[in-house]
Amino acid sequence: MMASKKIYVIAGFFIFMLIALAAMDHPKDQFKNLQVLPKNISEDSLYDVMEGYKHALGVGCGFCHVMKDAQGKEDYASDAIPHKDTCRSMMRMTMDINKRYFASDAKYIERVSCNTCHKGRSEPTSN
Ligand code: HEC
Ligand code: HEC
Repeated sequence: MMASKKIYVIAGFFIFMLIALAAMDHPKDQFKNLQVLPKNISEDSLYDVMEGYKHALGVGCGFCHVMKDAQGKEDYASDAIPHKDTCRSMMRMTMDINKRYFASDAKYIERVSCNTCHKGRSEPTSN
């Protein structure tokens, strides 16, 4: 009886360790409202992408994001500012252009980027 109890305790401990390791391997998705970017994107990569948009469009984060909600706090997950959803369409379009027309050029992740058209302006014109 005693020996088998010990085995259960040890087995239980190993199962606990495996669950803990699995949880470490797949950190909980930290962002709440990603519809285009990968849901498990790292914080560093997400902020790199956002900095890129800021520079390509020549705007601040508040062009797309709520900087002061009712509690006076930033709410990056909110879709209240329509520019954010326009931005999602632009992301899909840009990904589509790269995938469709530059597929053979695999070493370039993005041949066409936001900046190809925007060049620091939020609304690029055709001339
Ligand atoms: C041109 C618009 C635009 C600008 C400028 C922009 N963002 Fe974003 N941001 C987005 C879009 C669109 C998403 C959602 C992407 C998706 O659905 O996959 C997003 C998502 C995020 C999220 C994830 C929120 C969540 O929990 O879902 C954070 C955090 C964030 N942005 C921070 C920033 C910061 C900080 C800046 C300024 C350096 C910034 N963004 C500038 C458009 C923008
Ligand atoms: C092929 C050219 C092209 C590419 C690539 C492109 N855009 Fe645009 N974008 C435009 C044009 C043109 C407009 C203006 C549309 C209009 O005036 O109706 C625009 C408008 C926008 C707007 C709305 C601005 C406003 O004032 O209403 C946002 C936000 C935006 N783009 C974000 C992005 C982001 C982010 C990327 C990269 C993921 C991107 N765009 C890639 C051409 C492009």
